[in-house]
Parts: sequence; structure tokens; C-alpha cells
Amino acid sequence: MKKTVLVTGGCGYIGSHTVVDLINHGSNVIIVDNLANSSIEVLNRIKIITGVMPLFYKLDILDREGLEDVFANNKIDAVIHFAAFKAVGESVEKPLDYYYNNISGSIILFQIMQKYNVKNIVFSSSSTVYGNPKTVPVDESFPTSATNPYGWSKLITEQILRDLHVADNSFTVAILRYFNPVGAHKSGILGEDPKGIPNNLMPYISQVAIGTREYVNVFGNDYDTYDGTGVRDYIHVLDLSNGHILALDYLYKNQGQVLITNLGTGRGYSVIDVIKSYSRACGRELLYKICPRRAGDVAVSYANCDHAYKTIGFKAQYNLDDMCNDSWKWQSNNPNGYEK
Ligand code: NAD
Ligand code: WQD
Repeated sequence: MKKTVLVTGGCGYIGSHTVVDLINHGSNVIIVDNLANSSIEVLNRIKIITGVMPLFYKLDILDREGLEDVFANNKIDAVIHFAAFKAVGESVEKPLDYYYNNISGSIILFQIMQKYNVKNIVFSSSSTVYGNPKTVPVDESFPTSATNPYGWSKLITEQILRDLHVADNSFTVAILRYFNPVGAHKSGILGEDPKGIPNNLMPYISQVAIGTREYVNVFGNDYDTYDGTGVRDYIHVLDLSNGHILALDYLYKNQGQVLITNLGTGRGYSVIDVIKSYSRACGRELLYKICPRRAGDVAVSYANCDHAYKTIGFKAQYNLDDMCNDSWKWQSNNPNGYEK
């Protein structure tokens, strides 16, 4: 029988791609999103790609009554919980907003899930929970820590889910630690549309490529890496969404388990590698300037993906050129993002 999956934050960057995959894999999808960091236009794009308009509630997960109504009125089999604030720097400026939205929001959601006996949950965590890893590749047994409120909000929510499972082991939990999600849907009509100046590298580069910004600021070229710039494990958002489909399938088949796994490619690329690959994608040499290091950045981070492969059969398919080509297709087709 068709499963019904509630996707919090389903209008956001990763959520929207995952909704497309869920629909294509035969799930009913319900989206709860307050559009704090996304656009209603995403729903039309999902419909164009899949032929299906998902049921949508414009709702804040902090609105307990509103969220309860969603559970009371729908038979939900599983929840994928994307809804959160995600800007590291902003979290340092506004810690209470981040803790309230990301932790209180999660607690309200989990309480309602428990009340309505919905016990399958996939949670968006982050490689940020590894803090400054001593070695690479990073595996799931590495010590966790956080250096900012955003990171703490992810680590604390992970702990809440672990504790919830101890208290009620019918709760089946997948904690997915994403490395650096980038790229866009192959159609070029679904992608990342950050508000304001992008914090992350790929959306910043794509705005340089489209001409909104003049050059890329490279944060440091004196790291102990092969070209001196920071190295990260960039993962195509389509691989990431596939990881959610596999994780959900695992949960359905392994009731009462807690799965904690990395989602990355296992390969690191430098900032300069990404700028070069994007330059090839857009057909012109993108300008960059070397700037001081950004506070809090680590030199190198990439995932050990063995656990993801052994447990859920996950293996990333796309390489850096695919990520840049697909990002550029989205950016060049939608120079102002979802704004008409
Ligand atoms: P996003 O901002 O594009 O999507 C988050 C969505 O949640 C947005 O549509 C926003 O409007 C919604 N939202 C936020 N607070 C809400 C609330 N209280 N009630 C209802 N909706 C709310 O972010 P994304 O890049 O798609 O990230 C999705 C998840 O993955 C987040 O939890 C993020 O922390 C995590 N994550 C992201 C990255 C990344 O680099 N993008 C890396 C690791 C983990
Ligand atoms: C990548 C590399 C920068 C921008 C962040 C969060 C992490 C996770 C993913 C949510 C680094 C360099 C960047 C720029 C640059 N998000 N850079 N110029 O910092 O690895 O991870 O996003 O969970 O928690 O911390 O990603 O894309 O910001 O940076 O040189 O304008 O690009 O120094 O080496 P990061 P990023």
C-alpha cells in the first residue's frame, strides 16, 4: 500500500528535491513549511516535474495546534524532518531563534508523532556535528562536538531522538549527517534559491557566474591542503534525496532501529577545484580573490561512506562536474531564483 510521508521543510532546497523523489517512488507526500526560507512557487515546479501537486500546509512546526490538525486529519506513516534554520553565522547572532526553531520545533513535532503513533522519523543532521575532525575520512564513530548554536541544535536534536528511542523503542530513527549538498534537479527548474548574500560556496559561485556578483571570495589559501584552500565533500542534492528514499525504506524494514549515517561522496574537492569546475560549466573563467580565512572553518572534511553503503546501500552517483553543470542549468534558467 502507498505510504504517506510528512515532509517538514518540504519547500526548501533539499526538501523539495526529496519530495520529487518520494512522489516518483510512489509515496503520498504532505508538506508542512512556513516558507520562512522558501517560495510557494516550489510547489508548481514539483507539479511540473512529477505531475502531482503535494498536499501543502503553510504552517510553522512551532504551531502545536496547527501541526496536531495535520496528524489528526491524515494517516501518516513516516516523517522526514528538514524544517530548521541553517545559517551558521546567523546562529551565533541569534542563538535563541535557532534553539527555539530547531530544537523546540523538533520537540513539538516528536511529541505529536508520539501522540498519533507515527514512529518512523528521518532527521536532517549535518557533518557539522563532527566539529573539527582530527583525521579524514570522517566516520560515524568520530567524537561529536559543536562550535556554534546551529551545530548544537543538530547535536541536541540527535540526542533527543536517541533518548526517545531508549524510552520508546518502537521509535524507528534515521539520523542522516549530510556533508556539503550542492547542485540542482536535472530539469533546471528546481534548485537552491538562497535569500540575501549566499553563505555557502556553490550558490555564491553561481551568482558570480550569472553576473550578480563580480568575483568569488576564497576564504584562505594557506591551509594544509594540496592547493591551500579548504577541502569539502560536495554531494549532489539528487544523491542526497536518494539517500532519504533508501533510509526510509530501511526504516520500514528495520522497525525499532536507530540508524546514524553520513551522506557524502567520500571525496574531497578544494575551493579552487569547485571554481574551475563551475567555470567549465558556465563557459567562462570565473574571477576570484584570496581573502583571509573565515572564522570557524576547518581545513579538510570528507566522509567515510562505508556505513551508508553497508546499511542502506547508498553510493553517490554524481561527480563535481555534474554538480556544477546542474547548478548552472538551474541558475541560468532562473537568474532570480523562484521570483518571476
Ligand atoms: P532550507 O532553508 O532550504 O529548507 C528548510 C525549510 O524549512 C525551508 O523551506 C523553511 O521555510 C522551512 N522551515 C524552517 N523553519 C520552519 C518552521 N519552524 N516551520 C516550518 N517550516 C520551517 O534548507 P536546506 O538546505 O533544504 O536544509 C534542510 C535541512 O538540512 C535543514 O535541517 C538543514 O539544517 C539540514 N542541512 C542542510 C545542509 C546544507 O548545506 N544545505 C547541510 C547539512 C544539513
Ligand atoms: C565550503 C568551503 C569555505 C564560501 C557549511 C556549514 C555546515 C553545512 C554545510 C549545514 C570552505 C569556502 C565558502 C565563500 C569560500 N550546513 N568558501 N568562499 O562551511 O563546509 O559547511 O555548509 O548543516 O554545517 O558549516 O560550507 O559552502 O560555506 O564552504 O572560500 O564565499 O568554501 O571556506 O572551505 P561549509 P561552505
